[in-house]
Amino acid sequence: MEYRIKDISLSDKGKKKIEWAESHMPVLLSLKKKYEESKPLKGLVVGGCLHVTKETAVLTKTLAAAGATVAWSGCNPLSTNDDIAASLVKDEGLSVFASRGVTNKEYYDDIYSVLKFNPDITIDDGADLTIEFHKNLDKYGKNIIGGTEETTTGVLRLKALETNSKLGYPIIAVNDAETKHDFDNVYGTGQSALDGIIRATNVLLSGKTVVVAGYGHVGKGIASRARGLGASVIVTEVDPINALKARMDGYTVKPMEEAASSGDIFITSTGCKDVIARKHVEKMKNGVLLANAGHFNVEISIDDIKELSYESKKINENVEQFLLKNNNKINLIGEGRLVNLVAAEGHPSEVMDMSFANQFLSVLYLLKNKGTLENKIYKIDREQDIMIARLKLESMGISIDKLSENQSKYLNEYGEGT
Ligand SMILES: NC(=O)c1ccc[n+]([C@@H]2O[C@H](COP(=O)([O-])OP(=O)(O)OC[C@H]3O[C@@H](n4cnc5c(N)ncnc54)[C@H](O)[C@@H]3O)[C@@H](O)[C@H]2O)c1
Repeated sequence: MEYRIKDISLSDKGKKKIEWAESHMPVLLSLKKKYEESKPLKGLVVGGCLHVTKETAVLTKTLAAAGATVAWSGCNPLSTNDDIAASLVKDEGLSVFASRGVTNKEYYDDIYSVLKFNPDITIDDGADLTIEFHKNLDKYGKNIIGGTEETTTGVLRLKALETNSKLGYPIIAVNDAETKHDFDNVYGTGQSALDGIIRATNVLLSGKTVVVAGYGHVGKGIASRARGLGASVIVTEVDPINALKARMDGYTVKPMEEAASSGDIFITSTGCKDVIARKHVEKMKNGVLLANAGHFNVEISIDDIKELSYESKKINENVEQFLLKNNNKINLIGEGRLVNLVAAEGHPSEVMDMSFANQFLSVLYLLKNKGTLENKIYKIDREQDIMIARLKLESMGISIDKLSENQSKYLNEYGEGT
């Protein structure tokens, strides 16, 4: 075991949090029970790069229980829970390279510490590890079977690699599972992004105007939660269909240049860059809050804000206030990084239960199909999605109807009409 973490004495606190998450992740735990005796991953190294949270800890424990050697780094400089990292090292004996507040160099050093284990399978969130691995496949890739990717932005980056015929091993797009993006991105980020903003500022949402940039899975969740807390919501979009959906869901839709002067709170969730830039900040009211829920810290142009400012100060650990030359104040939460992970605890365990069940089953799928998959991005098997949904419903004590033979026949025939 090797590690680079902040403080191993935090392990007790981390252990209690992990136990809490475990008690809210019944689907993943049922998979752990199912595979801990047969240990299908014995002899394999799983190299992961994913936010070190209590939920991720349950995934790493499941992989280890199934026999894998686990080497793990964080996928964002500010999202690691140091107490969780400590417990994974001290109580579980896993190799963890992650701490909150790492520099850019330390962040990549941690990724390389994982690569040095010569992973058989990679698990990534945002594709930083996979992209670095691709630069060094000759050096560290002798065992590689395949990898998985957790988020929209990571899948987009890896699809670009595939389009350029540069993908070096098969990838399962876990984000594309319905039991992932329709729940994690929507309900998980929807709730936890607002949780992060509230924990950082204690702002009252009721009576405020919240501008949500992007009405995809994440934006849709944030908009509905903000409305539920009493805010008026303006959506900005570039996709006509998603803009139309937002309007028909009852939101005001405007370009960011128009929304900029009306908003009190701005939340970006596009996966794109410079969504809030100089021309928007110049129009904003005094005292607005800016936060990002998209994967990278490029959605709000911090360079532009700095150029427009003459001074900045920390209001608290997660809020930096910029004093603009036009005498307005702009409050940036979590350095423009994923607000739900920086200022809150990320997605609730209940929703990560399904995302990480998908991760675990995808690892098993890669192993089962070793040598037969091409260097392509693969979607999750539909059967897997259905199985996870069934297990989740079962754990919630919910049963559903079953098609009768007659109904199945009707749905598969064309003969019966008016
Ligand atoms: N914070 C988290 O925990 C978390 C969880 C899941 C996903 N994500 C990240 O959130 C981002 C969005 O994910 P998603 O699943 O909603 O993606 P999505 O593709 O479903 O939605 C993105 C939306 O943003 C719109 N968009 C793109 N560029 C825009 C721009 N310049 N201005 C306005 N709208 C724009 C697109 O048209 C699309 O409707 C990604 O970076 C993803 O990786 C974060």
